[in-house]
Amino acid sequence: MQPVSPNHLRLGVNIDHVATIRNARGGLHPDPLRAAEMAAAAGADGITIHLREDRRHITDADLDRLSIGVALPINLEMAATDEMLGIALRHRPHAACIVPERRAERTTEGGLDAAGQHNSLQPIVARLRDAGMRVSLFIAPDERQLEAAARLGAPVVELHTGPYAHAEGDAAVAELARLERAVALGVEMGLEIHAGHGLTYDNVSPVAALPQLAELNIGHFLVGEAVFVGLGPAIGRMRALMDAAREMGVRGA
Ligand code: PXP
Repeated sequence: MQPVSPNHLRLGVNIDHVATIRNARGGLHPDPLRAAEMAAAAGADGITIHLREDRRHITDADLDRLSIGVALPINLEMAATDEMLGIALRHRPHAACIVPERRAERTTEGGLDAAGQHNSLQPIVARLRDAGMRVSLFIAPDERQLEAAARLGAPVVELHTGPYAHAEGDAAVAELARLERAVALGVEMGLEIHAGHGLTYDNVSPVAALPQLAELNIGHFLVGEAVFVGLGPAIGRMRALMDAAREMGVRGA
């Protein structure tokens, strides 16, 4: 995804849960491809999808259709497995984000242990990079994981905002400070920094205001909000909140 201005914070819209709703009944409705087209029209900069091992939302057929039909860059979230590596190499999305995956979890619960899994991750990062994908690692906002990501040669990290999103009061302030430090540290290491998980209208602004952050990936809240206001308006409002926060953050810096 290319920034439209140096200050533009990119929005990757995760459409997994459009597929979750479709899968509740089988059939074709609602169609993730239509959601991707609406997201593009509403100001998304990219489409994020997570092909899980159990295919509980996006399926292989979705990936085929989205790869052909979506004009925006696709960010494929994937577990570090041979199966997913093969699929990524066949489809060659713009970006591949390596996430930890446990079958029993409801969503991606923790960050990747890039430090502890250096040896198993290294060949996967290298093969994805060699094939031209922009590789990112979904990690907790901590120094050890950032250093490990840099050592692995990943150009991008996505910081897990779940702990920030689920915290309240002083704990949320502390989690935001942790994110802020990690963004600064990551940029110093030469990494491009993305963030995501659990972001909503209520908690997105302080994160979006971090001036060195390049991209947010947001899904569940937007699809939920779409039930009430429609997908385009939900994304449009998120886009406006991000732009306003970024503008204020830069002015206040
Ligand atoms: N980024 C990553 C790496 C994720 O795994 C997810 C959830 O699939 C998201 C962002 C989006 O999180 P949410 O659906 O809570 O907005």
